[in-house]
Amino acid sequence: MDSLVVDHPLAASLLTILRDERSDNAAFRHALRRLTQMLVYEAVRDAPIEEFEVRTPVATTTGVRLQQPPLLVPVLRAGLGMVDQAHALIPQAQVGFVGLARDEKTFEPVPYLESLPEDLSGLPVFVLDPMLATGGSMVHTIEILASRGATDITAVCVVAAPQGVEALASCGHPVRLVTATIDEGLNENKYIVPGLGDAGDRQFGPR
Ligand code: URA
Repeated sequence: MDSLVVDHPLAASLLTILRDERSDNAAFRHALRRLTQMLVYEAVRDAPIEEFEVRTPVATTTGVRLQQPPLLVPVLRAGLGMVDQAHALIPQAQVGFVGLARDEKTFEPVPYLESLPEDLSGLPVFVLDPMLATGGSMVHTIEILASRGATDITAVCVVAAPQGVEALASCGHPVRLVTATIDEGLNENKYIVPGLGDAGDRQFGPR
């Protein structure tokens, strides 16, 4: 599986704000938005472009645009804090939604919302979820997308655990990962260590 760890001093300092338990909900959301911008920027780096003619006030020249803007799919609820900024970077993108809760006993994803175009064939998809822990939610989402014909899926995450990376690599679907870090592992409650805690609570409260 292709994976890209965005290694940049500005990304690392935003990640530090996210990790810091003293960051309140507003500071956390702000840093998440800014870091998402960098992750999506890198996720788009090799996207196919098409050329078209554009007139400047002085002359005609060649301009470019994305051949096919991706479908953005935030995984609710933590992915909500990434979608605005991703959409600001790619305003032509459509947005779909997948809602998954985590069963706190089994740690398995419990689906509660699926709002996606019927046919995703030929459409690149960016799944937005800050935490790739066991990979259960991400693999579940990828299976939903693949069942609708998606073959070009990018998981855009902030923090990944090695177990989640392995789950993506072995899920049997073509997927690419863009993340700000691959952390040490998971604790007994399947939280990423050192991680940043519960990305939903850190955005929306309680801290
Ligand atoms: N989900 C989170 O929000 N945080 C983790 O560490 C793991 C899953």
